[in-house]
Amino acid sequence: MTRTLNIGFASLFLLLAASLGFGNSRPGKTVSFNQNWRFNLGDVPNAKDAGFNDSQWRQLDLPHDWSIEGEFNENAPSGTGGGALPGGLGWYRKTFTMPAAAKGKLIFIEFDGVYRNSEVWINGHYLGKRPYGYSSFEYELTPHLFYGAKPNVIAVKVDNSQQPNSRWYSGSGIYRNVWLTTLDPVHIEHWGTYVTTPEVSEHSATVAIKTKVSNGSQSAAPVDLTTIILDANGREVARATEKGVAARGMNAEVSQTLKVSAPMLWSDDRPYVYKVVSELSQSARVVDRYETPLGIRTFRFDVDKGFFLNGKPVKIRGTCNHHDLGSLGAAVNTRALERQLEILKGMGVNGLRTSHNPPAPELLDLADRMGFIVMDEAFDMWKIAKTKYDYHLDWDEWHKRDLEDMVLRDRNHPSVIIWSIGNEVMEQWNKNPTGGTITRELTAIVRNLDPTRPTTSACNGVSRDNKVITEGDLDLVGTNYAHGRLPEFAKMFPGRPIIGTETNSSLHMRGSYRMPSDEILRWPRKDEDILKISPTYECSAYDNSTANWGSAHEETWKLVKDHDFFSGMYIWTGWDYIGEPTPFPWPAVSSYFGIIDLAGFPKDPYYFYQSEWTNQPVLHVFPHWNWKQGEKVDVVAYYNNADEVELFLNGRSQGTKRKERGNMHVFWRLAFEPGVLKAVSRKNGQVVLSREVRTATEPAKIVLVPDRQTIKTDGMDLSFVTVKIVDQNGTLVPLADNLVKFEVSGGSIAGVDNGNQISHESFKANQRKAFHGMALAIVQAKQKPGRIVLKASSGNLAPASVVINAR
Ligand code: GAL
Repeated sequence: MTRTLNIGFASLFLLLAASLGFGNSRPGKTVSFNQNWRFNLGDVPNAKDAGFNDSQWRQLDLPHDWSIEGEFNENAPSGTGGGALPGGLGWYRKTFTMPAAAKGKLIFIEFDGVYRNSEVWINGHYLGKRPYGYSSFEYELTPHLFYGAKPNVIAVKVDNSQQPNSRWYSGSGIYRNVWLTTLDPVHIEHWGTYVTTPEVSEHSATVAIKTKVSNGSQSAAPVDLTTIILDANGREVARATEKGVAARGMNAEVSQTLKVSAPMLWSDDRPYVYKVVSELSQSARVVDRYETPLGIRTFRFDVDKGFFLNGKPVKIRGTCNHHDLGSLGAAVNTRALERQLEILKGMGVNGLRTSHNPPAPELLDLADRMGFIVMDEAFDMWKIAKTKYDYHLDWDEWHKRDLEDMVLRDRNHPSVIIWSIGNEVMEQWNKNPTGGTITRELTAIVRNLDPTRPTTSACNGVSRDNKVITEGDLDLVGTNYAHGRLPEFAKMFPGRPIIGTETNSSLHMRGSYRMPSDEILRWPRKDEDILKISPTYECSAYDNSTANWGSAHEETWKLVKDHDFFSGMYIWTGWDYIGEPTPFPWPAVSSYFGIIDLAGFPKDPYYFYQSEWTNQPVLHVFPHWNWKQGEKVDVVAYYNNADEVELFLNGRSQGTKRKERGNMHVFWRLAFEPGVLKAVSRKNGQVVLSREVRTATEPAKIVLVPDRQTIKTDGMDLSFVTVKIVDQNGTLVPLADNLVKFEVSGGSIAGVDNGNQISHESFKANQRKAFHGMALAIVQAKQKPGRIVLKASSGNLAPASVVINAR
């Protein structure tokens, strides 16, 4: 019988967590501990004490990020790099009771991540601290708890006041999930399984499972471990039992080997996930049940031919991403993560780099199920600082523990294929010998816990002088940028497999176009030169704008595609993120690097990749068609599955074009006249697709398009509603910036956005200006079924409303 706390919602969430299988490896014993916390921004004496009166504090549910609720400020200590949003110090407290029947059990609290410098107390007893904001950790509460009616208090101090400590927006607070686990004295340890597949063939797979068992019981009855493998439909495919695994008062590590015949392999395009269920029983009673994902796959990095998955060459077509979720900030939300990955999959992405830190566990659950080749990264810096108060201050005391915890937590995810021990660490430079010594230390830590995956470090000092690469014992050479020298990398590092840990750094604002489209601007570094080029803080969405160390999308992909030794690339970045608004200073506050903007709207290069990386028929023609009469306008089309594209302006052909001389797009230069631009792609003379872009007139109405019209009643699920400003004919008005006001009933608005990097409007509001004709409202369900109605209005425009059903 499972003992849980006295909160009705816990069992509801339990069902949900069990059915989704997210972030919870012990359904029935681990329950969400997110509800009903109290929060105070600012330090308060005695807030750690059990008797402290917090009744005046704000009540909230986790995950929570207080920075995203703040205002943008040019003088914010985080700088624009950190998103110009506030840090600070905050306290969280939660009062709860434990049922009397839980006496004799072991109780643990687990934090998936707290940014940063968390310290935790239970009933006034200090449990410990964790400086690194991206590590997951747990504490045992058992010896300090009260059972029955007497309340317990958990107090958490979160200190993100020393700024800057990050090169991107970090968020602040208990921004990931919190769990409470109730165990019998006989149990499987935290992160207590390690599953590998030493032999895999078409006919059979050997699954090796190590299980850490702890027997804290007083009973002499033997403890048996049964390990069961279930297929994706829950059917048992293998089972093994080991009898008498840990005597009273003992810990043991049990090794078992199971066979799966005719295994379904895990891959990026068919991500088949089995489940390993570990059951401990004593006197025929199951006392613990622990679940671990299992993906059966083989992979290798070949020096000449790159990456192979299940024996087949696969180019890694990845993107780097930071952890924020746009207007939701850093507060983790599984649906928001899933939407990010769905949109990336739609573009043909098959890889993710968790730049530059361990991700939320839910991201890896999604990556397992959706088929992403993950580079799981530990650090952005080692001993030498990148920003004044960053993790270098904690390095000596914490790096071993934090790195081990990442590997122990994540090593069972089939999606995790590469460990990265660092990003562009300063130890790379000036032939610094510590580059070699620290790399050797870190790779040994990783290998000790997981010898089945290669270790890399993302290096922008791509040269023989870089001791991280040359003396560091990395399995994979990780290169950032240096695109022009890419063809030489194989000679530079003979005999070593190589991957593009970070590439591109193209810069775009959705819906902004600088001509000529075929002249690539590598942005200068000096603010005055930058603002001379664009006093309006815009970067072109043609593929003609990159950081000066970067490379345009088509340029980069041609290089990567043409060099087999290069295992693939992780583009900087898939999604825009808050902070690092390169190349611009304030008032720019969020990044231009994304192929997808902060609101989730694709920029045009999205369709370039879709045409190259997917088989779905693509014909994307841009820009918009609202220009000055007679102005020369470059029209670009990305297409696939066709031989040619013909362009018509107001019914007159402007010529048929084919991709030639290795080009991956076609383009026309036309004198603008209002009307209809129509592109038609053909294969063997047959029409494949046609697309139109029309001149818009004045804004006339609002259109609302929800991504999902039915959502769950778990209090977390979201519907992302795209807001479009259209003219009387329904054509998107490309420069519309009308202020749209929202009203919602039956649910709430979790955030609003429009993807504009220089907007300082609040993300937590009931209104948002359109940007280039579009905005986003994120609608959140409550915990009861019903109709959510979102209404949108804007001055004289015809209003709109949409119904979302919560079930
Ligand atoms: C890289 C760095 C990233 C980001 C990017 C911008 O050098 O690893 O974190 O700053 O540059 O181009």
